[in-house]
Amino acid sequence: MIVILGGEKGGTGKTTLATNLAALRVIRGHDVLLIDTDKQESANFWSLTRNDSPRENKPIVTALKLGGSVLRLGQSPYQVYEDIIIDAGGRNSVELRATMTIADSLFIPIQPSQFDIWTLQRMNDLVHEARRVNPKLKASVIINRASSNPIVTETEETIQILKEYQQLAFSGLVIRDRIAYKRAAAQGLSVEEVQPPDSRAVDEMDRLYQEVYNGRA
Ligand SMILES: Nc1ncnc2c1ncn2[C@@H]1O[C@H](COP(=O)(O)OP(=O)(O)O)[C@@H](O)[C@H]1O
Ligand SMILES: [Mg+2]
Repeated sequence: MIVILGGEKGGTGKTTLATNLAALRVIRGHDVLLIDTDKQESANFWSLTRNDSPRENKPIVTALKLGGSVLRLGQSPYQVYEDIIIDAGGRNSVELRATMTIADSLFIPIQPSQFDIWTLQRMNDLVHEARRVNPKLKASVIINRASSNPIVTETEETIQILKEYQQLAFSGLVIRDRIAYKRAAAQGLSVEEVQPPDSRAVDEMDRLYQEVYNGRA
């Protein structure tokens, strides 16, 4: 299964979610390749940090930095991986568009802010285009870094606005702004592996996992 964490705007959480998902999928016993098509290479650095200091209960996550040649993904040797997770950042990147033509699903993290919402029309159009060659592509939005303050209504407003995009569904996932995500990233870990654990962040990533892999073990 090929899953993309993608979007045109930087800083929305693509790498955070892609790396957590990759670690969880490996921990659950699957054969995973994490592909980083973003020029910033954050997912790649995360995996180097992780794999540099192997510890017990911290399985290696194989990552690969790939440029324009990602289209070859449909061919060997990438077919040997059961699961491919693609961190596809970058404005109007050829990699994002190319991977959308072969992926099973695209998850677009956004922060509940107008700046992020404005990028959705472009993503909606890109999904429309990709579905001409890849009709099975699922595309949904994840709200990330939502405020925990109950007075802030941005998240509710964002969920309402999402209904306007015909090609994009709302995943139902609202991930809050939590320090645990930053701690995990800095150590090349998933939030499930960070000590002391933040059970709410662990629950959020568990829900992400369920949503992406649809109840598969
Ligand atoms: N839910 C969250 N809570 C707290 N910090 C977050 C969360 N998601 C992402 N971040 C932080 O926001 C910054 C941007 O996230 P990142 O995953 O690198 O975005 P992108 O890959 O889309 O550019 C990073 O510093 C990351 O640690
Ligand atoms: Mg990134």
